Amino acid sequence: MELGLHDKHALVTGASSGIGLEIVKGFLKEGVRVTASYNTQRRELADLLERHKPHLSVIQADVSNESDVRDLFTDAVSNNGRVDIAVANAGIANHEGVGVHKMPVEQWNRIVSVNLTGAFLTAKYFFANLESNPGSDASLVLIGSTAGVFGEAWYSDYSTSKAGMYGLLRSLKNEIVHLADRGRVNIVNPGWTRTPLAKEALSDTFTLSRVFQTLPLRKVATPIDIANAVLFLSSDCVAGHISGQALTVAGGMEGRVLFAPDEVEEHAKIQASE
Ligand SMILES: NC(=O)c1ccc[n+]([C@@H]2O[C@H](COP(=O)([O-])OP(=O)(O)OC[C@H]3O[C@@H](n4cnc5c(N)ncnc54)[C@H](OP(=O)(O)O)[C@@H]3O)[C@@H](O)[C@H]2O)c1
Repeated sequence: MELGLHDKHALVTGASSGIGLEIVKGFLKEGVRVTASYNTQRRELADLLERHKPHLSVIQADVSNESDVRDLFTDAVSNNGRVDIAVANAGIANHEGVGVHKMPVEQWNRIVSVNLTGAFLTAKYFFANLESNPGSDASLVLIGSTAGVFGEAWYSDYSTSKAGMYGLLRSLKNEIVHLADRGRVNIVNPGWTRTPLAKEALSDTFTLSRVFQTLPLRKVATPIDIANAVLFLSSDCVAGHISGQALTVAGGMEGRVLFAPDEVEEHAKIQASE
């Protein structure tokens, strides 16, 4: 299928690893000019840069820092012109879950500032670029999570940061058309995906068997599964009439298993006899 992305300019945050890196590779295959931003690790992108130099720019930026994001877009535009597509992908999660009653406010603020404020700042400077560089088409893709759809016990910081993206999605799809009349905003919600972020959880058989109980396909995603959804939504040719939508890429996930069988057995026995 022809995506018609050739020669567009896409900016991807959190591009040094996992899903972001795969999105960059996918765009490059489609002939897109890519600005890839990383925060602390440049190694994988440096390898790509050697092979794709004229089409790829690599820039450091902490998405929770406004001046970094402003400079990221300024440099992207001066290197490659108008940014046509932005993917707000950068994100973090705490490896250890913690109940809300014990969650340090510093942890909450850190997760929200990278995941949600980072998406806001990416949207802010993407839209500013659309205002300064007029054009008809534009696409913003947010990377959410099934945690933002179903919640995630012990990770309320992370699930709230992802659920908050729905406010951005629903507001910005109506704002973008004032800057680019065919502009679109969508969100991709990955479920469990094999990346460094989820590596620890996905090496635990107990966690996986709980996840698979709600998941008809009984497998975790690869970063390519998520990147394909992002490329699809970025394309005006194949997704040009799709805006304000959430595309969940999670093997059909129904939700969460809350209790092990032995934790509900007693309640079931009592209530069956009532
Ligand atoms: N993997 C999953 O199961 C899963 C499920 C649902 C949603 N997601 C979402 O998918 C997105 C990508 O995650 P991933 O699994 O690919 O994780 P990953 O491999 O850990 O990659 C995370 C990326 O975010 C960047 N990043 C972290 N903090 C940043 C900051 N302050 N400023 C700029 N960039 C920053 C990292 O940059 P450096 O490495 O350069 O520091 C890295 O490029 C995230 O938004 C995540 O919440 C993942």
